[in-house]
Amino acid sequence: MKFSSSSLLAVSATATAVAAVSLPAIEVVGNKFYYSNNGTQFYLKGIAYQADTAVAGSGQSFVDPLGDIDTCKRDLPYLKSLNTNTLRVYAINTTLDHDDCMNLFAENDIYVIADLSQPSESINRDDPTWSVELYKRYTDVVDAMHGYTNVLGFFAGNEVTNNNTNTDASPFVKAAVRDMKSYIKEKDYRAIPVGYSTNDDADTRVQMADYFNCGDDADRVDFYGINMYEWCGSSTFEKSGYADRTDEFKNLTVPVFFSEYGCNEVRPRQFSEVAALYSDDMTDVWSGGIVYMYYEEANNYGLVSISDNKVQTLSDFNNLSKAMATISPSIRASSDASIPSGTFQCPASTQSDWKASPSLPPTPNDDLCACMTQSLGCIVAADVDEDDYADLFSWVCDQVSCDGINADGAKGTYGAYAFCSSAEKLSYVLNLYYLSQKSSSSACDSDGKAQIVNKPSAPAGCSSALSQAGSVGTGNVVAAVTGISRSTTLGGSISGGSAVAKTTTSKSSAGSSAAAGESAAASTSGKKNSAGVVTVAGGLVAAVAAFAALI
Ligand SMILES: *[C@@H]1O[C@H](CO)[C@@H](O)[C@H](O)[C@H]1NC(C)=O
Ligand SMILES: *[C@@H]1O[C@H](CO)[C@@H](O)[C@H](O)[C@H]1NC(C)=O
Ligand SMILES: *[C@@H]1O[C@H](CO)[C@@H](O)[C@H](O)[C@H]1NC(C)=O
Ligand SMILES: *[C@@H]1O[C@H](CO)[C@@H](O)[C@H](O)[C@H]1NC(C)=O
Ligand SMILES: *[C@@H]1O[C@H](CO)[C@@H](O)[C@H](O)[C@H]1NC(C)=O
Repeated sequence: MKFSSSSLLAVSATATAVAAVSLPAIEVVGNKFYYSNNGTQFYLKGIAYQADTAVAGSGQSFVDPLGDIDTCKRDLPYLKSLNTNTLRVYAINTTLDHDDCMNLFAENDIYVIADLSQPSESINRDDPTWSVELYKRYTDVVDAMHGYTNVLGFFAGNEVTNNNTNTDASPFVKAAVRDMKSYIKEKDYRAIPVGYSTNDDADTRVQMADYFNCGDDADRVDFYGINMYEWCGSSTFEKSGYADRTDEFKNLTVPVFFSEYGCNEVRPRQFSEVAALYSDDMTDVWSGGIVYMYYEEANNYGLVSISDNKVQTLSDFNNLSKAMATISPSIRASSDASIPSGTFQCPASTQSDWKASPSLPPTPNDDLCACMTQSLGCIVAADVDEDDYADLFSWVCDQVSCDGINADGAKGTYGAYAFCSSAEKLSYVLNLYYLSQKSSSSACDSDGKAQIVNKPSAPAGCSSALSQAGSVGTGNVVAAVTGISRSTTLGGSISGGSAVAKTTTSKSSAGSSAAAGESAAASTSGKKNSAGVVTVAGGLVAAVAAFAALI
């Protein structure tokens, strides 16, 4: 193994500078990946790299696999001996420093694909929104990781829509793709590709791939991953389903790969699918894959087990290592790539198995939420527990139109304030009710659940946007907001998760990533906000104080 302590010292000596070690970025041309320095095709030879369980008692909800250099050093030789060139990481803690691990991996020719979500901040398939809170989480990860040239790409979601009952969640994920691509551009970062990772559901597989691949370049994915567990035990290209999948995906105009693979119904795994994946049967269409997964956990997908902080290889590891050592996929040159012309058509949204509208929700706009909040004469009371919001929503939405705070990914209709926090949305509709009752003080009381704000006033720079949003929030807001200063006003300070009950998702039958990033309900606590964002209650107290100051 190439691992030596002197090279590690060299790495840590340079670790304070981001991207001190630079690998050529990987770029997308047509439906393949290439090294940007020389146009040689790049195949993912990947490993899913994230401990699946939270560390009990550590206070962390997940363990960032790139946050601790000793762990990265410990694992590097094992990753190298599997010929790994890509790690998939499911959840990044943006407050940690990633220089050491990223540079260590860069020096060893290893790229990283990072999911942008984390377990408690991801798009919830049962109540999907693309919210201010999630936008902040996603951009925080982009900000934290963009400087490393060995970031191969980002996943804007993992298995959010997972069958034909929740295809209406996909417009929200595609909006996340769109907004991260535009954020990267706006910030003048390197053009890091943004993609999506899907489960393998027979009813929706083709429509889902087409949906994320379709439409304007600005909206569609840069690459597409499918978590694939069809080849179990000894199988063949034809028998496994790989041949059919290859046929189904051959028209896609972006790179596609297995964002997880490795069925474990027969153990130890033989990894005979590796030879097929990197053979000419598949490489016209597929760009390799990511084996699920490094760590042995209760689900028995591990390549190694860790005990006393020592790595022990399992039979799966040895078998995979042999399989990876024998592949030699055909290598193409970017100069020979064919770039498809025209726009890939989106699947119809009126199919029994596919309802996702091609019309996407708007970009979350924290300032607009702040404008709206500051214009309200009645808001949810500061001491209302967020667990009680659901009841209040259900009561008030019987009295007034809640279209301004709702979003429907099947109809393609999105309320102007649907991306705001729960407290903001609830305040908006409580205020509509108050207005409908001619601002009678008794209409902003409801057993102490709501409170009157005297002389609300949003900055003048809010007026065009608020007027475009319309009287019930169903208008299309394009006007910019000016004059909102976050340090002195409410901008972004009322925050919190969605009002739905917290749900946990189970792994797909084949057992894909239970680690972070899978669609999970936003937390209802309102207490997990990142630095600089105060809790719901604090925000409303601040709101009242700010309004009081205006009187
Ligand atoms: C292109 O560059 C990559 C990264 O440095 C290298 O691995 C690959 O071998 C190069 N291709 C050729 C044809 O030299
Ligand atoms: C991120 O890391 C910090 C510092 O170790 C820790 O306090 C925090 O809980 C972590 N966040 C998550 C979501 O695990
Ligand atoms: C669809 O997925 C959801 C969420 O995982 C699950 O609860 C539901 O049972 C699934 N429905 C069908 C028809 O498979
Ligand atoms: C791929 O494109 C061909 C030619 O347009 C078309 O006939 C075929 O149905 C497409 N396949 C899929 C799976 O979309
Ligand atoms: C996989 O590992 C098992 C147990 O070590 C071994 O018996 C088997 O021959 C290996 N398979 C391959 C394809 O190397």
